[in-house]
Amino acid sequence: MKRIDLKNILITGSGSGLGRAMAIRLADEGYNIILNGRTESKLIETNEILKKFNIKSTIKVGDVSDSKFVESMISEIIEEWELLYGVINNAGISKGSASILDKNEKDMQKIMDINFKGAWLVSKYAAKCMIKQRELKPLRGKIINVSSIAGLDPMPGIGIYSCSKAALNMLTKVLAKELAPIITANAICPGYHVTPIYNNDPKLIQNFWDLINMKPLLKRVGTAEDVTGLISYLVSDDSNYMTGQIISMCGGVVLH
Ligand SMILES: NC(=O)c1ccc[n+]([C@@H]2O[C@H](COP(=O)([O-])OP(=O)(O)OC[C@H]3O[C@@H](n4cnc5c(N)ncnc54)[C@H](O)[C@@H]3O)[C@@H](O)[C@H]2O)c1
Repeated sequence: MKRIDLKNILITGSGSGLGRAMAIRLADEGYNIILNGRTESKLIETNEILKKFNIKSTIKVGDVSDSKFVESMISEIIEEWELLYGVINNAGISKGSASILDKNEKDMQKIMDINFKGAWLVSKYAAKCMIKQRELKPLRGKIINVSSIAGLDPMPGIGIYSCSKAALNMLTKVLAKELAPIITANAICPGYHVTPIYNNDPKLIQNFWDLINMKPLLKRVGTAEDVTGLISYLVSDDSNYMTGQIISMCGGVVLH
């Protein structure tokens, strides 16, 4: 069922994994999609899949932690498509498993730059446009941050990643407070989903669970598609009375 009046959504990190699954789900629902990521070939692959839907889509190749790129990406979107309705800050990295004592400064900086600073930059430039575009169309802007259950509880081996996602959760709440009532900001916390971040290997995830003794109550590894229903809800008008919320979508790992 198509229920969308051709709203434009930017999804960062949408060349693979959760971002690609979100792009397919939202395109199927009638949203126009702006794909972003660092690897052009992956974005082209996602864009090819979107061609079967009756929507507009485009690709913006670049690094979300580069402020010049983010500023020009958002102004290009406005020049080309006039309005930006929503952004999904999904781009993220984890950089392997190691004790926090063994992480080096370069990796720490990279994780924080992409997972936290990138989401802040995209939100900052997008929100300015969303506020301005209210003169053209009374849309409520939507910011959705893809965080992690590792941002709720410290996870051994991915401590810096945990810190970056905890910062992203706080960013979500700050954005919700500062941008209300024009823009809503919410975050989702996936658990363990088979994507390239885990080399598409369910065994790798299961080994990790054994290591940290945390298993989902629902007794299976997540798929990329498992998060897309929640994303669909968060970009839709059905969630207009919801902001500043951090929602887990993890098969019950956080209750274990
Ligand atoms: N897969 C999981 O189990 C899981 C669990 C919790 C949270 N997450 C989060 O979900 C998001 C998506 O991860 P995924 O599992 O789909 O893995 P993924 O590696 O397939 O997706 C991450 C995407 O981000 C892109 N990216 C990385 N750095 C970027 C940058 N500087 N600029 C633009 N794009 C960049 C990558 O190219 C990739 O396409 C990440 O934020 C991740 O932390 C994933």
